Amino acid sequence: MTTTNVFPENFLWGGAVAANQVEGAWLEDGKLPNVTDTLIGIMNTKPSISWNEEQGIWELNLEKDRAFLSHEAVDFYHRFEADIKLMSEMGLKAFRTSISWGRIFPRGDEETPNEAGLAFYDRLIDTLLNYQMEPVITLSHYETPFALLAEYGGWQNRQLIEFFDRYASIIFDRYKGKVKYWMTFNEINNAFRMPYAAAGVIKFPATDPNEPITTLTKKEIYQAVHHLFVANALATKRMQATDPDALMGVMCSFSSLATYPIDCNPANVFGALEFKRNSYLFSDVMCRGHYPGYVKRIWREEDCAPEIADGDLALLADYTSDYIAFSYYRSTVFSVDAEMRVDTGGAKGFDNPFLTEKAPEPWNWPIDPLGLRYVMNELTDRYELPLFIVENGLGIDEGPDENGQILDTERARYLKMHIEEMAEAIQDGCDVIGYLWWGPIDIVSAGTGEMKKRYGFIYVDRHNDGSGSFDRLKKASFDYYKQIIDTNGLDLTINF
Ligand code: BG6
Repeated sequence: MTTTNVFPENFLWGGAVAANQVEGAWLEDGKLPNVTDTLIGIMNTKPSISWNEEQGIWELNLEKDRAFLSHEAVDFYHRFEADIKLMSEMGLKAFRTSISWGRIFPRGDEETPNEAGLAFYDRLIDTLLNYQMEPVITLSHYETPFALLAEYGGWQNRQLIEFFDRYASIIFDRYKGKVKYWMTFNEINNAFRMPYAAAGVIKFPATDPNEPITTLTKKEIYQAVHHLFVANALATKRMQATDPDALMGVMCSFSSLATYPIDCNPANVFGALEFKRNSYLFSDVMCRGHYPGYVKRIWREEDCAPEIADGDLALLADYTSDYIAFSYYRSTVFSVDAEMRVDTGGAKGFDNPFLTEKAPEPWNWPIDPLGLRYVMNELTDRYELPLFIVENGLGIDEGPDENGQILDTERARYLKMHIEEMAEAIQDGCDVIGYLWWGPIDIVSAGTGEMKKRYGFIYVDRHNDGSGSFDRLKKASFDYYKQIIDTNGLDLTINF
């Protein structure tokens, strides 16, 4: 099966990871913990921290008998050169990762950066460039330094704008001319679903330290989100002043935009629209430059409007996104009768009887490639901005067979079907910068903190109990992705 060659010559075929899911070395060379370091999976609403009444701060309280796999992750910090070499064999033209904020400003509020942290990213970015891979960089992939939550309450505190501005300025200055594609905050639209990880905000001071941190009020989360918006606009301003060729993208989890009403009952159709607005709010503000009317109604009726300082709205209006980066994994079905629970892949509403293919157990995410085309078209209709698919992938619990091989046909099929729909979307008129597979090498799952949910074309011998040699092994999909990239998306035939 082939697609007609609709992909532009310079199309960025690549892969994406996040510092906290690959690097490990969580306390090396001066780094201090960030929010994800305190969690076994960001879906967990109980981080390993406790309230210190005397000092009035949150403290780390890491349970010794539980495996925090992300602390060593897949040891990319020490193995990145070999890993990038392997990925270049696959032909990757772009590689997305995050800079771990806590390597550069370990507490987050220092005046001067940690040179050892910067030196690591100097080497990493230069290695990518040596292999002709475009670095695509997120400034915080659920990686707000923990001290900023513990001592300041996180992003509900306006001071974080200043701390982030200092961090972003140092990074833009250091990597100008080397990095073109930037994002500030990964999946910023998860702020309400996962406030601790995605919005870097915590109950502060703790009124009842035993309550899950998701008991934050709506007003507190809107406040954190407003500060994130302002920080993003300021960062965009800095980036433009430092490197006029660089581009800033909003980054959202847009599986949520493939939310279908369960039937034509107008209540379900409108409910699905409102559900999508929980995500659109973020791209509306960051791409259009102002708060939409539907959120102002919520602020009014639920008395949860954030405090907006003089000059904030002008910043949001002046510094909007150059492109839209998004993740897409699955679709969902909305009904007013179903509770919409959300995980990293998107929302879980009703089962969709028309989608018979599912991701393997135990995750079972419905596979919906047409959903990707739907989302791309919706975004193009609404914003007319370039799109960048910076995450799409399939997690499988797998390992080498008796011949030492991993024949991951399901992954290849998932990849093929999504590329076919992306090609359709391009023909529909969507302007697409590139496609980055999530986790080209096995990494620690963000949602559940485990190793066994493997996305990679490259297997890593590390397991849920922390055992393993960390050795790397190519899966069958390695050559398949290479073939796709070599033919610029023309030959999608699966030969295994
Ligand atoms: C996205 C995140 O939500 O989904 C990634 O940006 C994450 O960090 C990915 O890894 C897949 O989710 P999971 O839970 O399978 O790792």
